[in-house]
Amino acid sequence: MVPAALPVAMPSIVLDHVTKRFGDHVAVDDVSLTFPDGSFSCIVGGSGSGKTTTLKLINRLHDPDGGRVRVGGEDIAGIDVIAHRRRVGWAIQRGGLLPHRSVGDNVAIVPRLLGWPPDRIAETVDRLLDRVGLPPDRFRARAPGALSGGEQQRVGVARALAGEPDILLLDEPFGALDAEIRVKLQDDVRSLHERFGLTTVMVTHDMVAALRLADQVAVMAHGRLRQVDAPRALWNAPADDAVASLLAPARAHADWLRDLAGP
Ligand SMILES: Nc1ncnc2c1ncn2[C@@H]1O[C@H](COP(=O)(O)OP(=O)(O)O)[C@@H](O)[C@H]1O
Ligand SMILES: [Mg+2]
Repeated sequence: MVPAALPVAMPSIVLDHVTKRFGDHVAVDDVSLTFPDGSFSCIVGGSGSGKTTTLKLINRLHDPDGGRVRVGGEDIAGIDVIAHRRRVGWAIQRGGLLPHRSVGDNVAIVPRLLGWPPDRIAETVDRLLDRVGLPPDRFRARAPGALSGGEQQRVGVARALAGEPDILLLDEPFGALDAEIRVKLQDDVRSLHERFGLTTVMVTHDMVAALRLADQVAVMAHGRLRQVDAPRALWNAPADDAVASLLAPARAHADWLRDLAGP
């Protein structure tokens, strides 16, 4: 395996020989991986390769059967779960919004849990809706069901950011969107990452998105980490056949477009 391409001066999230089993099935198999402070990382792999499980281990939705997850040098197994989740924003496919609550109430969930005063909550909700491109006066009072898929996902990202986390975890957040909206939302998430100074880990099966957005790409297959590299290094030197085959569709596409452009 190729070592992480980024300097690890201030490792924010470190997986140290992490294993997670479900019965006999090893969903995450001895994974060691560093997400440097302030970096934007993508975990890429086929369905069932262990991506979501890895993300849940960072959020303590699962605890490892072996190994350790450290944040800022500290083993998160020893930290209060609620205190840990407070610094982690979590957004999933289709937004995962509560259907019977307004958009504003969905974004306000974590600030309310944190007991913020109402005026601070209202100000935060409006500011975040604005930041994710949803004018608050138009969107605050609406039901999630009255929004397009892309708008719902934007609400999901706003909600993930509402508790002022240091870490943003995104699980296939753009899966169901058409290409143009997906690319726009990806760019917006990357700029929110910069603006809020986050450490972001995004799970996706979209290799092209990962190569375009990430500082480092971690490739998983069958629970194992196959390669961690900067996008250019991954593209030019896939570590094994599993990585090469995940890159193959993008390569075929690139070749086809080059041919189409002509000599
Ligand atoms: N709660 C669970 N109970 C049993 N098996 C699970 C559970 N969560 C995930 N798995 C299994 O672990 C493997 C990895 O799952 P997951 O991390 O969700 O994959 P991915 O997100 O890469 O598609 C799959 O084979 C899945 O069926
Ligand atoms: Mg998944």
